[in-house]
Amino acid sequence: MDTGTLLLFLHICVGLPLAQGAAPALRFVALGDWGGVPNAPFHTAREMANAKELARTAQTLGTDFVLALGDNFYFTGVHDVDDKRFQETFEDVFSDPALRNVPWYVLAGNHDHLGNVSAQIAYTKISKRWHFPSLYYRLRARVPQTNVTVAIFMLDTVTLCGNSDDFLGQQPQRPRDPELARTQLSWLKKQLAEARDDYVLVAGHYPIWSIAEHGPTHCLVKQLLPLLAKYKVTAYLCGHDHNLQFLQDDSGVGYILSGAGNFMDPSKKHRRKVPEGFLRFHYGDENSLGGFVHVEISAKELAATYIEASGKSLFKARLPRRSRS
Ligand SMILES: *[C@@H]1O[C@H](CO)[C@@H](O)[C@H](O)[C@H]1NC(C)=O
Ligand SMILES: *[C@@H]1O[C@H](CO)[C@@H](O)[C@H](O)[C@H]1NC(C)=O
Repeated sequence: MDTGTLLLFLHICVGLPLAQGAAPALRFVALGDWGGVPNAPFHTAREMANAKELARTAQTLGTDFVLALGDNFYFTGVHDVDDKRFQETFEDVFSDPALRNVPWYVLAGNHDHLGNVSAQIAYTKISKRWHFPSLYYRLRARVPQTNVTVAIFMLDTVTLCGNSDDFLGQQPQRPRDPELARTQLSWLKKQLAEARDDYVLVAGHYPIWSIAEHGPTHCLVKQLLPLLAKYKVTAYLCGHDHNLQFLQDDSGVGYILSGAGNFMDPSKKHRRKVPEGFLRFHYGDENSLGGFVHVEISAKELAATYIEASGKSLFKARLPRRSRS
């Protein structure tokens, strides 16, 4: 299946007038590991709190779309396109009117791959706001009132690296279908080499760098990391570890980890596995209701605000626009 070259042009229509005088910007929320539980009520208190705060954020800061970074349905994904979990864990939870017209762009995590990912892709045709056109794809958008463009490459890191058992803290060992993994990686290389956008983001479920429970994903450090520096990628976004982190490497690439949609895990087990000085922010308080990252991209810079589900702003990272070459 190589529908990965599909181009999706976002038509940004901001539903709500935002604060007067705010510089034109493209805004989105990165939310990972948000997928509820397989038994009634099919959501957690943290997922509910995040949904409420997401609605508030859409009204106050504005959000043009949501990037769903995988583990959309715990613990074993969905069965088919008619699975009730689409309603119980997604539609009924993110039901605030402020979110009604906010599209979601979705990628799959390891738990989704324990079920039927084709059904999650098929759900695109049923839901008005769920967009999951293929396992991996490109999104492109423009900062309103400018010619400044943003490319987002949505990856499937599970078919790229293999599945892993969360509860054993395992690393993915190898892709089940090596040909599919190769096709995806060469698609990404070609796309990155050709990208002339002012901001280039790459998103996947597994982290490249993380100090937490699962730590860095060896397969991505080996295969993806070299591409980020080479092609001057602005940031890599991911989930998988159940907390919030911001890291930055020596070449300036930012690493936004947003995996606090449903669970919180304070572990810093892999802090020595991340190069000295990369970690800029970590939040994994077990008593917290979780959170997400709000990204605002203007002609000048990308600002990532880490927001706790209680509404508290925890941290803000800024990354510059790329120099077009
Ligand atoms: C996955 O879901 C699709 C869409 O509902 C369905 O056609 C297909 O049979 C499902 N696959 C399996 C293995 O259940
Ligand atoms: C965008 O590009 C077009 C075509 O080059 C140009 O006419 C227009 O002035 C540009 N707009 C802005 C806001 O820079």
